[in-house]
Amino acid sequence: MENGQRVHWDAEGYDKSMGFVSRYGQDAMSWLDPKPGERILDFGCGTGDLAARIAEEGAVVEGVDISPEMIDRARTKYPKLVFHCADAKTWRPAERFDAVFSNAALHWMKDAEGAARAMAECLKPGGRLAAEFGGRGNVKCVIKAMNQTLKRHGREDVGVMPWYFPSVGEYASLLESVGFEVRNAMLFERPTRLDGEDGMLRWLEMFGGALIPGATQSEKAEWFAESAELLKRKYYHEGAWIIEYRRLLIHAVKIDGLS
Ligand code: BEZ
Repeated sequence: MENGQRVHWDAEGYDKSMGFVSRYGQDAMSWLDPKPGERILDFGCGTGDLAARIAEEGAVVEGVDISPEMIDRARTKYPKLVFHCADAKTWRPAERFDAVFSNAALHWMKDAEGAARAMAECLKPGGRLAAEFGGRGNVKCVIKAMNQTLKRHGREDVGVMPWYFPSVGEYASLLESVGFEVRNAMLFERPTRLDGEDGMLRWLEMFGGALIPGATQSEKAEWFAESAELLKRKYYHEGAWIIEYRRLLIHAVKIDGLS
């Protein structure tokens, strides 16, 4: 995240409550189609579950993530894999990769051009990118509820938009501008289930702090509870919340001859 404020992750809580994030990485994984012996970079690898899944296919995987909490947990869970704690946008490997994979990470990188350029520069010519992240309109209802809450308290000053949710056209053009050829791209809806009456609150506690980095802990607790209440009638039914995730899935190839 690039608001000058680092997100401090509860990496264990993330694995326990937000396990669906890795489970949903399956589409990007199919588009990646890893082969034994290939060198693959997991760009924004989080706690390493998908890097480990790629390694099970026989690929040689490395992960990079800016969060020390996430990387500590990835190293503890998967000691045989190589994880780099670094800003993926500026980190460069000693040797370029055959493929770059990324799941649910690129929307945290608001310098999208820097991220796209980094992915291109981490790849060999002809190397491929398979990525999934939040697309245009993702979690719109949550952002709207938080904005309403801030407005009610007269505190729009602490609200920021911490995520990058592009359209297909916007992101495909960006990838082309840094030397990729886009082979396939789609924006689709993925209604996402959060179990339990406190599911929305837990989601907000995990991710929503990024929307209000300047708020105090007690303001966050109060405003998350109020926002969840605003969303409840429409999005909570029979023990679960369904929130409107919208995903952008991309397969691109780095054009030969570009650096
Ligand atoms: C997502 O995976 O779409 C997402 C996760 C956290 C915050 C915003 C979006």
